[in-house]
Amino acid sequence: MKQDIRKAIFPAAGLGTRFLPATKASPKEMMPIVDKPMIQYGIEEALACHINEIVIITGKHKRSIEDHFDYSVELETNLKKSGKKKLIEEINKLNRINIAYIRQGYALGLGHAIFRAKPFVRDEPFAVILSDDIIPPEETLLKDMVRLYKDLKCPILALEKVPMSEIHRYGVIDGVKEHDGVFRINNLIEKPDAENAPSDMAIIGRYILTPDIFDILETSKPGRGGEIQLTDAIRKLLKTRQVYGFLYKGKRYDAGDKFGYLKATVDFALRNPELSKAFKAYLLEVTRRFRA
Ligand code: UTP
Repeated sequence: MKQDIRKAIFPAAGLGTRFLPATKASPKEMMPIVDKPMIQYGIEEALACHINEIVIITGKHKRSIEDHFDYSVELETNLKKSGKKKLIEEINKLNRINIAYIRQGYALGLGHAIFRAKPFVRDEPFAVILSDDIIPPEETLLKDMVRLYKDLKCPILALEKVPMSEIHRYGVIDGVKEHDGVFRINNLIEKPDAENAPSDMAIIGRYILTPDIFDILETSKPGRGGEIQLTDAIRKLLKTRQVYGFLYKGKRYDAGDKFGYLKATVDFALRNPELSKAFKAYLLEVTRRFRA
């Protein structure tokens, strides 16, 4: 088995029900945070870790994802005519990478979406990136996980401490600290009540997995919510091998949720050099208005 992480799966076939009606006919992953679709932030994060082989799991109404990462001759011709060279470079910069697309058909859950990528991943360890968990580009979460994998050669899940009032929205681990930020996972519980949660450490949308997960996913039955859950498959994997958690302490935006999406939009607008000054002034004005 190869040991470097060269491949990443981007599951993007979910129904995005929390954003309906916006996601009725267009993908959640294409919703912009300022001027880039959510999924582009994730792809740029993978490329920054030298993960250049990418597969996106898509479904119905997801065509615009493929169009986004392809050349647009018409648009280029128009931009050329108006001398907007920089913009052409910007829109084409990701077209040179190789992206494969696999359809999920039915949105039967995250575990099922990952299983669809088996022919692409084959016998290599790989990353999974949930693009609605947005990690700012200066953070090194995925890089740290890739580095850690080289030492541990075991699956690694990104973890974050979350308030108990939100724990029911996550997969939660029961684990033992091995060394700073690294936990040996003993058990996982998907979306527990606060009373039954084994810890306050939740799994967030970055994983390093090994291909043995496919054997488990192949025979997995629907779990919570009638979906084939990745967490259930990882819990089974725990019986045969060690799985680790890596505690992330940086910033993350849960942009799959309306409030998280708005926070990401505001923060990314504030750090955008073209917008920040005017936007900050506007926010101050809005705050004053609400205080009055
Ligand atoms: P979510 O739990 O956020 O589900 O999926 P969702 O359908 O995108 O959104 P809501 O909860 O209905 O609002 C986490 C990730 O897994 C993908 C999603 O596209 C998202 O990136 N996913 C989920 C699939 O690819 N297939 C599925 O069957 C389910």
